[in-house]
Amino acid sequence: MKFFIDTANLAQIKEAQELGVLDGVTTNPSLMAKEGITGTNNILKHYVDICNIVDGDVSAEVIATDYAGMIKEGEALADLHENIVVKIPMIKDGVKALRYFSNKGIKTNCTLIFSAGQALLAAKAGATYMSPFIGRLDDVSTDGLDLIAQIRLIYDNYFFETQILAASVRHTMHVIKCAEIGADVMTGPLSSITGLLNHPLTDLGLEKFLADYAKGNK
Ligand code: E4P
Repeated sequence: MKFFIDTANLAQIKEAQELGVLDGVTTNPSLMAKEGITGTNNILKHYVDICNIVDGDVSAEVIATDYAGMIKEGEALADLHENIVVKIPMIKDGVKALRYFSNKGIKTNCTLIFSAGQALLAAKAGATYMSPFIGRLDDVSTDGLDLIAQIRLIYDNYFFETQILAASVRHTMHVIKCAEIGADVMTGPLSSITGLLNHPLTDLGLEKFLADYAKGNK
């Protein structure tokens, strides 16, 4: 399973990259705003900064919601760097735009997926990735992981190549369960990656190894 980090924070992206397990980055307009990145030029520059840190796919979201606007913005985003993946919302014009970019060989990530029907449409339209938001489904008392399992089954039935990018991951158990189900990618905050390191028995074991070494090597 690929690990993407879901942030526009350069320090956190660097930290995940330096850990040596990062495969890509996802951003969205809210994450850019959180970092105080505003204005088209600054936003485009920030995408390039991210691409210069991580050796992998970087999702950059279009703001337009009409077909022509999404094509124009998406082409400009794709021209920024070879690692850019054009992120497109699951709406009618978005599906048309996915097909357009797929035919042109430009990578896409269909975002805001909340149902198996939407996942089926994204795959039919040739999306490279599609992002079911599991945390936001959990927030409304619907098990987001059930959706990942349902999509895995459907995609496997028909050998769809669209990758399941489990998004809106909130914690380490989401990551582990997504890996069990067979999501192709997960994207989450830095804590959902670094949290996988933690086990009290590892800490206790290391403490004992070091203490025993110290006793024998005074
Ligand atoms: C996906 O690409 C989105 O950026 C993201 O995972 C949304 O997560 P949130 O629900 O934590 O905002």
